[in-house]
Amino acid sequence: MELEPLLSSPPLPSNRWWTRKDTTAIVSGANKGIGYALVKRLAELGVSHVILTARDEEKGKRAVGSLREEGLDNVHFSCLDVSHHSSIKTFVSWFKEEFGVLDILVNNAAVSFNEINENTVEHAETVIKTNFYGAKMLTEALLPMFRYSTNSMSRILNISSRLGSINKVKNPSIKRLLQSESLQEEHIDDMVSLFIENVRNGTWEKQGWPQVWTDYAVSKLALNAYSRVLARRFEGRDLCVICFCPGFTKTSMTRGKGTHTAIDAAEAGARLLLLPHENVPTGKFLGLLAAATNSKL
Ligand SMILES: NC(=O)c1ccc[n+]([C@@H]2O[C@H](COP(=O)([O-])OP(=O)(O)OC[C@H]3O[C@@H](n4cnc5c(N)ncnc54)[C@H](OP(=O)(O)O)[C@@H]3O)[C@@H](O)[C@H]2O)c1
Repeated sequence: MELEPLLSSPPLPSNRWWTRKDTTAIVSGANKGIGYALVKRLAELGVSHVILTARDEEKGKRAVGSLREEGLDNVHFSCLDVSHHSSIKTFVSWFKEEFGVLDILVNNAAVSFNEINENTVEHAETVIKTNFYGAKMLTEALLPMFRYSTNSMSRILNISSRLGSINKVKNPSIKRLLQSESLQEEHIDDMVSLFIENVRNGTWEKQGWPQVWTDYAVSKLALNAYSRVLARRFEGRDLCVICFCPGFTKTSMTRGKGTHTAIDAAEAGARLLLLPHENVPTGKFLGLLAAATNSKL
């Protein structure tokens, strides 16, 4: 999946399909940064129920509290650690009981342990487990809950990174695998296992993996590939899957560095998410042109 430029944010449609009284959205890792800004924007735009999730209960409740103080009573909190299967299971049962039907999922939660100009892989397993398997496990657990209605079109937005573009990979066989039309989920899992093996045996630097923030880049490479396979799996079934690179954004992940704020990134992400269903670019990897070309991540 190559990054396609989103030249300017698409206009918000006048026909607000999402303001129907039971439209639901879930955002992972939303106690701060882009996730928090996305919850806020979706709630401001009138999505009926926006679920702010966070792995830390106290931080999540505080985040919801500040949004409610701003009058956003349509924001709800639930604890969710995407790197733990049991937490996903508890969360999904809670969601099913409270809301039952899902329209929008934003896989935003992610970690990186690198400073901007460093490239350590000490935490590669945690990075892959959170950024790739976390998003995949949560998505798979929620798939039965999507609305699947021709009137609205359910959406999954995977917050990715240009570091996970195929052109960052130098290894020809991995590149070929990722570009193949017959790519399957198990091939992606195998690719990720190979990377972890290369990290464990100390050969990762020679194997042609992406050269900047390597573990994080591989996690996003896998997320992009999974998104493409998932979009194909649900073709014509009223569920679309989009990858979005927010660009180099000032958040904790970049130690406050960046070309724009989380609010700017969330505005573009929200507009993309809420497009009229005939325009949703399923299976695509999009990024704001200026933001994406200047992005270090
Ligand atoms: N900032 C950029 O320049 C940039 C560029 C490209 C892509 N992105 C992507 O944008 C997304 C948001 O990142 P950000 O910049 O807003 O970073 P951030 O401020 O560090 O936010 C990351 C969020 O993910 C949460 N999280 C981490 N591990 C989790 C887990 N196991 N379960 C649930 N939540 C977890 C964090 O919670 P805690 O507070 O508990 O740690 C935090 O709320 C990420 O997918 C990132 O890869 C960012």
